[in-house]
Amino acid sequence: MAGSRALIAASILDADLSNLANAVRRLHDAGADRIHLDVMDAHFVPNLTFGAKTIKHLRKRTELPLDAHLMISEPGRYLDEYLEAGCDSITIHVEIEEEIAPILERIRTAGRAAGLSLRPATPLAALEPYRELLDIVMVMTVEPGFGGQAFMKDVAREKLLAARDLLRHKAFGGEVHVDGGVNRETAELVGGLGVDVLVVGSALFTKGRDMGREIRLIKALADEGYQYELNDGMPPIPRDRMVTFVSLPKHLAHRFMDEIEAGGIPVVMLRGDGGMNPDGVRDYDLLVPAMVEAVVVERHADSRKRYLGDADAWRAAFILERGVIAPPSHP
Ligand code: DX5
Ligand code: ZN
Repeated sequence: MAGSRALIAASILDADLSNLANAVRRLHDAGADRIHLDVMDAHFVPNLTFGAKTIKHLRKRTELPLDAHLMISEPGRYLDEYLEAGCDSITIHVEIEEEIAPILERIRTAGRAAGLSLRPATPLAALEPYRELLDIVMVMTVEPGFGGQAFMKDVAREKLLAARDLLRHKAFGGEVHVDGGVNRETAELVGGLGVDVLVVGSALFTKGRDMGREIRLIKALADEGYQYELNDGMPPIPRDRMVTFVSLPKHLAHRFMDEIEAGGIPVVMLRGDGGMNPDGVRDYDLLVPAMVEAVVVERHADSRKRYLGDADAWRAAFILERGVIAPPSHP
């Protein structure tokens, strides 16, 4: 559903495990944003599901981002297999014995999103030492191991808003995920607690319920919750809306874009239909995600002023030196 702030990562744990390709296709057609893959080793949790080989096959069946949730005791030992299988994000558990930081670093070095998850009984503070290495904080609102369990409201209230704080170093792209018992009854609560990604499993595989309608309903309720709890009644800004921050001659636009992107904020540079320059080339627009526009303005207001001044000086010098060049007449 275009424009929704909330994203759905559909868990296939409760799908027909004998036909996962069909489950993934159905979820894609129903509007899921990602496929959530619950890997369990019957050691870290009392259940056994599938491994990297299955994921590698599923990779060929969908373009949707694969969001691996490794409920296994030794994710570091097997990490290369999950990277090679094509997981876009890999979330491990903070309760494992292995050294955590190197695993998170390896995930990021491979260009994937690195996440940490925690059992309901584990305090959020356990993630503190790793905060700079996190792209995702995934709060479990059920005991990991099985789908279809009851949502733990107290855990959600205790951890979800605080989880955002662990990601404050990332101006853009950090995500809070909630996983376990998320459905039409609990979506508005988690939306109101600012969650970005809702992992939904059994609610999508409930007999008699249309998968697509369930996804749209859960997204809408999560956005409703966000709007009235965290966003003063304003509709959530759709995640993908981009807004123009500044228009500059091409060479200055490139330089400024690099400066803004160095701070972790993605910029789109488009040839504008704005001012024509004396070199016959129009200004270029720099667009940033609407949801971080305020951050960009706060960080770069001065440099925007400086760049606009540089642009005027460049135009005047160009005209002095070479006069005005007519724009190429397009056929
Ligand atoms: C549980 C898994 C969850 C689970 C979600 O250990 O991590 O992703 O599959 O399923 P529901 O939505 O049914 O709780
Ligand atoms: Zn999960």
